[in-house]
Amino acid sequence: MSSLLDVLQEKLSGKNVKIVLPEGEDERVLTAATKLQATDYVTPIVLGDNDKIKQLAEEKGLDISDIEVINPSTSELKPELVKSFVERRKGKATEEQAKELLDNVNYFGTMLVYAGHAEGLVSGAAHSTGDTVRPALQIIKTKPGVSKTSGIFFMIKDDQQYVFGDCAINPTLESSDLAEIAVESAKSAKSFGMDPRVAMLSFSTKGSAKSDDVEKVANAVKLAQEKVESEGLDNVVIDGEFQFDAAIVPAVAEKKAPGAKIQGDANVFVFPSLEAGNIGYKIAQRLGGFDAVGPVLQGLNSPVNDLSRGCSTEDVYNLSIITAAQTLQ
Ligand SMILES: CC(C)(COP(=O)(O)OP(=O)(O)OC[C@H]1O[C@@H](n2cnc3c(N)ncnc32)[C@H](O)[C@@H]1OP(=O)(O)O)[C@@H](O)C(=O)NCCC(=O)NCCS
Repeated sequence: MSSLLDVLQEKLSGKNVKIVLPEGEDERVLTAATKLQATDYVTPIVLGDNDKIKQLAEEKGLDISDIEVINPSTSELKPELVKSFVERRKGKATEEQAKELLDNVNYFGTMLVYAGHAEGLVSGAAHSTGDTVRPALQIIKTKPGVSKTSGIFFMIKDDQQYVFGDCAINPTLESSDLAEIAVESAKSAKSFGMDPRVAMLSFSTKGSAKSDDVEKVANAVKLAQEKVESEGLDNVVIDGEFQFDAAIVPAVAEKKAPGAKIQGDANVFVFPSLEAGNIGYKIAQRLGGFDAVGPVLQGLNSPVNDLSRGCSTEDVYNLSIITAAQTLQ
């Protein structure tokens, strides 16, 4: 964990990337904000009711004197953001609806990023994934060439580092979605210093089982390999379909997948469904003792990331550093 953060902190040195933390009334978030403010990596912008935040800071002995605190309801930026929101939603929200939505800290914070007042956002300590992510999907939207955002976890233990995706966002996935997630996960892994070797996972290895689900992953492998070729991505290897053991254990790969491009040396794992991905990362975390860092959302025009409601101050700090690092990509 610390090695990934050390590398990122070095990259971010002196950059003071502006990250919005919409949940400033949460003690964990406000404490993380004071720690971030003390660095030259991230400058936090905290949202919430000024009086409540001041009181919380006093109670907890936090020095927030240098932190920008914005109350969405009374902010002088609100009229500009309401206008911009209505334009962005193109007939999907009236001015009245926009005014109401922008009282919500996640909508207001996401608009700060969209309008260029901040570079990224970290929320979710007190909101569900849906409530955290929906404003970003509606306002910031996906990058050209990406149809769906997805959520990866960096799974870290000692000197081992893996990427798991999609573990957070898309309840239903077609072959084309899985292919896109494989390529985006490879790009994310690369931008965090890894040489991506992407295994597309299934309950079958190279045709050992037959079913529509297996065929979906096998088709996704072909589409992903074509994408890597057409985008000219260097040093990206994608193969499958693999069972997890064939993707991670060389001796198993030798038996089950001789001749495959990945021989038990995968470091990026694309799961066939959200169920598999979400369950899979939690098994590695709870039984395997890996730190799970994320979900880090990929494919958006600007980075927005979702915390777990059980997060710690350290999680808020770490995800803010990762979000800031995504702005450098
Ligand atoms: C991601 C999620 C919040 C989308 O919410 P939703 O309200 O169902 O989304 P909708 O279908 O109403 O779409 C809202 C907007 O987001 C867009 N959108 C939805 N899913 C998207 C995706 N994966 N990527 C990009 N855009 C997406 C839609 O196109 C729509 O845009 P528009 O309003 O401009 O037309 C929802 O799929 C979800 O809750 N996923 C599971 C999250 C979860 O519980 N994860 C496990 C815990 S980590």
